[in-house]
Amino acid sequence: MRIGADYYPEHWEKERWKTDAEMMVKANIKVIRIGEFAWSLYEPEEGKYEFDWMDEALDFFGKYGIKVVMCTPSATPPKWMIDKYPDILQNDIHGNPKLFGTRKHYCFNSETYREKTKKLNTLIAKRYAKHPAIEAWQVDNELGWSNTTRCYCKSCENRFRSWLKEKYGTIDNLNKTYGTTFWSQTYRSFEELNIPKAGACYDTCHDTQGQNPALLLDYYRFCSDSVVEFTKESVDTIKEYSDLPITSNLLDAAINSGTGIDYFKLSKEFDFVTWDNYIEFQWGKAKPETVSRDHALLRSYKKKPFWVMEQQSGPCGWSKLGPTPTPGKLRLWTYQSVANGADTVVYFRWRACPFGTEELWHGILNHDGKPNRRYAEVSRVGAEMEELSKNYRALMPRARVAIIKSFDSEWSQSIHRQVEGLYYDSLLLDYYRPFWNMGIPVDFVTAEEDLNRYDLVLAPMLMMVSDEGKKNIETYAQAGGKVLFSFRSGIKDMYNNMLTETVPGVFADLAGVEVEDYDPLLEKTTATTGVFGNGMAHMWCDIVKPVTAKVIGKYTSDFYAGEACMTVNQIGKGEVYYLGCDLDEKAMKMLAVYLGRKAGIDMDLYKVDGVEVVDATDGTNDALFILNYNDHSVIVSMERSYENMITHETVENVVELKPYDVAILKEAN
Ligand code: GLA
Ligand code: ZN
Repeated sequence: MRIGADYYPEHWEKERWKTDAEMMVKANIKVIRIGEFAWSLYEPEEGKYEFDWMDEALDFFGKYGIKVVMCTPSATPPKWMIDKYPDILQNDIHGNPKLFGTRKHYCFNSETYREKTKKLNTLIAKRYAKHPAIEAWQVDNELGWSNTTRCYCKSCENRFRSWLKEKYGTIDNLNKTYGTTFWSQTYRSFEELNIPKAGACYDTCHDTQGQNPALLLDYYRFCSDSVVEFTKESVDTIKEYSDLPITSNLLDAAINSGTGIDYFKLSKEFDFVTWDNYIEFQWGKAKPETVSRDHALLRSYKKKPFWVMEQQSGPCGWSKLGPTPTPGKLRLWTYQSVANGADTVVYFRWRACPFGTEELWHGILNHDGKPNRRYAEVSRVGAEMEELSKNYRALMPRARVAIIKSFDSEWSQSIHRQVEGLYYDSLLLDYYRPFWNMGIPVDFVTAEEDLNRYDLVLAPMLMMVSDEGKKNIETYAQAGGKVLFSFRSGIKDMYNNMLTETVPGVFADLAGVEVEDYDPLLEKTTATTGVFGNGMAHMWCDIVKPVTAKVIGKYTSDFYAGEACMTVNQIGKGEVYYLGCDLDEKAMKMLAVYLGRKAGIDMDLYKVDGVEVVDATDGTNDALFILNYNDHSVIVSMERSYENMITHETVENVVELKPYDVAILKEAN
């Protein structure tokens, strides 16, 4: 457990490095990440390389015992390269090349760019693999940042055609699968296929231009695969020279609402994953449960502790600023990360840069570089972590509940929303939130992975599933697992076509129900009652007919009053629940309590508003985190006696927390 800072030696006079290093050491900053945007410094002209500046920086900071995460700089191809090889540029959905001027302007499928990247990465890996200061690698930066996963250029179109050929073998097979008899879209060869750019239809067709949903989903998958392939190439290049762990910094689901990259797949390429955690900035404020959900996703991609590679450390924004972190918040956010599985928390950035697009973006230090309030708070955290690491290795929450996260379903639902206001990720958050409120950690899983370590598995809007995934869920239920499917689960095949089996299609046998009629609600609401108390549905109502299932929830309004909205079906030793509608927050909370208890989980834990409780362990030692997001003090009652692992005081009956304060408790023996 430790802290770090994102540092740019190239932004500062060398005379300043000493002050920076000394201040870092004093604050217990153990690691810096460097070099992710430095291409034009390494290669100012084609084939002319300069490494001295980096050699010097590494030697310098290394001498202070500061460890380094060394980056590959492919996020920012330099101007000379773009001018000489314009085919490198990514094309937007209208087919226009993106322009030089910010970053991530390259196409993942450009042969030229792949070659150039490989060449420079090889030189960097070779030169620095054995440098004693380096402890890990980061490839690129924020893959998929700002809509850059999906490119619409010629190289992508060509590669996509080969990708399709590989997948479908013959064009007849593709035609059949895509249903190209609809609207006269039959293709005679793979060469006839175009990537689904904008322009097929405007106005009524909305964001996907009304194109074939199977084609769109394939294109989304292809783009995700392209990022993974590009990344793998960089990872493999480093691996040729270095045994050190390799990662990249992923993005949150909240603000960036999906990068279009299947993070489960991408994470396989890495030894550990990291992400960038901005909470209150120009673009809004994330709620604590949303941030916690993002941490949960991160620890879930590899089921391992992760890092925060960029943790907000000051007021942030590009053109305008968000609020300055209230005293205590940097510390609170850091411990929220640690509680949820982060092993190292790196603050972005050490010091605000006086020039460039991010001249307003504050780091720990202001532009003036003087020790300030935030530096003092970070130093406090650094000292505490030093102390805590004597007792703990990386902590992971003890999750007994899992939510299935399917990128296929997310993309399919982004192509056809099903009803206004319905978003895959928000629906998953609706299922995550009530458990979060009650201090029950939740992991995210794929349908195919081992589910047996969880007592309860939730599958909101799992629109499509592989045969393997379906079997896996069934085996889990047979053996005694509890599973829940929501409306719109199981309705599609893996090609993004609607199934002709009665809803919920693939899962009809497991759920033991049939849905012949459903009501997308738009502006109206429907009342319900059941094991979740009384609730209101706002988006969707399936009129559920039990076949082998038992009814445990009903509608009480509209023409389907008296019909089922929720059921339970016995499968082997387990139970499969079907919830045919969305529910309001209060009903979701009661539903979580009901399901949790059925799964044998103690659901009466901690219920103080604005307080996150995380039950974590490092495998040997337990830690109960209590995090107060309120701007007022709270008192949380405790059933046992604990030692506060920061203050070493004994905690009996209650723990009192000041605004934004944190307690890390260990049960007293
Ligand atoms: C991202 C990037 C950083 C920086 C910060 C602030 O997360 O990775 O390079 O741009 O945001 O905008
Ligand atoms: Zn492209």
